Amino acid sequence: MTITSPAARPDAPERPFGAVDLLTLVLEAIRPSLGFDLAVAVLCEDGRHVVPEYAAGTLTPSVVEGVHVQALAAFVELAGIDHATWPSEDPIVILLDGAPDRVIDEPESYEDAPLVVGGAVTGMLRISCAAPLTKDQRGRYFGMAADLSKAIERLDAQRTQTKLAQERLLQSEKMSSVGQLVSGVAHELNNPLTGIMGFAQLLLLKDLEEAVRHQVETIYAEAERASKIVSNLLTFARRRRAQKDPSDLNTLIERVLELRNYDLRVRNINTEMQFDPALPETLVDPNQLQQVFLNIIINAEQAMKGDDAGTLRISTRASGRMIPVSFADSGPGMSAETIRRIFDPFFTTKEAGDGTGLGLTICYNIIEEHNGRIWAESEPGRGTTFFIELPVVAGPAAPAQRRDTEPAPAAAAERKRILVVDDEDSIQRLLTGVLEMDGHEVIVAKNGREALDIVKRGGIDLVVTDMKMPVMGGAEFYASLRDAKDPLAARVIFITGDTVAPDTRRFLQGVENAVLAKPFRLRDVREAVQTALAR
Ligand SMILES: Nc1ncnc2c1ncn2[C@@H]1O[C@H](COP(=O)(O)OP(=O)(O)OP(=O)(O)O)[C@@H](O)[C@H]1O
Ligand SMILES: [Mg+2]
Repeated sequence: MTITSPAARPDAPERPFGAVDLLTLVLEAIRPSLGFDLAVAVLCEDGRHVVPEYAAGTLTPSVVEGVHVQALAAFVELAGIDHATWPSEDPIVILLDGAPDRVIDEPESYEDAPLVVGGAVTGMLRISCAAPLTKDQRGRYFGMAADLSKAIERLDAQRTQTKLAQERLLQSEKMSSVGQLVSGVAHELNNPLTGIMGFAQLLLLKDLEEAVRHQVETIYAEAERASKIVSNLLTFARRRRAQKDPSDLNTLIERVLELRNYDLRVRNINTEMQFDPALPETLVDPNQLQQVFLNIIINAEQAMKGDDAGTLRISTRASGRMIPVSFADSGPGMSAETIRRIFDPFFTTKEAGDGTGLGLTICYNIIEEHNGRIWAESEPGRGTTFFIELPVVAGPAAPAQRRDTEPAPAAAAERKRILVVDDEDSIQRLLTGVLEMDGHEVIVAKNGREALDIVKRGGIDLVVTDMKMPVMGGAEFYASLRDAKDPLAARVIFITGDTVAPDTRRFLQGVENAVLAKPFRLRDVREAVQTALAR
């Protein structure tokens, strides 16, 4: 392939020829295959930083007749071209503008300089000259080739970054569509699960024959397992409110390891910790991050199954504004095909029933929400390492006390009139059951409008209301009380299976009242009621 460099104006003075010109020429030559015009500009700009001024009168078109770019691995890769269609034996020959217009297959003299990208020789730059270069010219020519290498390296890094950003975008789009579907389904499951768990708990409070008790306990345990899956699905759908506190990642990892200690030991897995004691605190949701660490550690455990003792090496490091964390296991590793899909929702290589394939999807979402990065490196037979990078974010000086950490007050013995507002029959009955058991009088309403009518008649001490109901929902009901300056507004407890919808979420974040997420434990209901009555 022979290309003539863009024609200069005939009266243009012969000017010295530097690395930027070289870059421009080379890139002009391969531009059609690169598929993006910006390349030259990008490189020139970078070139300006890279290239020291080359003294005038050194390499000029009268000295250098043409440039061969040979063994084009670097360019071929940059351009994403199939090597087969552009064999490296076929050099590009660039005839310099102003150089004698002749074929330079057999030049008088030539100089080869290597192009080194990423520490490897990926190309060869050959200039054809009318006469051998002087020592000085040769030095400058090699300097230019080195600068050209650096510029290619930068372009390469830029392309990798762009590719990474595109992949992340694709990943998050994939997440959001599956997420919507999943959160809808998970939300629908919450109501029946609340019923199953609640009534099982009510039954367990009764005097039961041992065998029956065992059966009911099984029902409860299985329903709880299902509710964990639902909660995982909702987390996956990115709908959990992140509650960020300044935290020490070392401590969070240690806590998770404590949870897994027994399993790790039983499986003969050594853990080696290389924790940087100088790790700065950073603003994260500790629960969410523990979930990330837990998922990764459990994956490693499951991968290192078998009699052979494996090793899990966990390291943290303070590194400027970032905290890199890594989990390296000595398990079987993954194929390139697997590693490409690990963050995909529902991708699993485990037996049906063993994995949902959501673990890493959840990790990905959580880390992304923390503006961090997560990726894995692995090769079959060589173990797997997960890398996480989290930014150091300073938190508020004193973290606010959270409602859920406040101790529950002592049981109130007094009988109160409690209004339960829910359109779902089973939840109505369940709440009635619990509250009556504690000695309260319960009145029920199917929606906010009915509830307002009952409240107007007076005598209600507390309201437990669902959020989403036909005719009038929980938010509107609450707003009516508040607007009427009814003190009962402070004694409304919200029940929701839906921290999903943004307006619900915003509403609940804006009120002081207690919120029970479905499926709730009976204990949570009782505690919330006692706290609200004590207000
Ligand atoms: N440390 C590891 N070594 C080898 N393969 C791994 C490792 N971690 C993850 N994988 C692969 O990635 C897949 C997806 O992992 P992910 O945690 O998302 O789902 P899962 O573990 O299969 O199911 P779940 O986490 O829902 O129980 C796994 O099935 C496994 O093939
Ligand atoms: Mg997993």
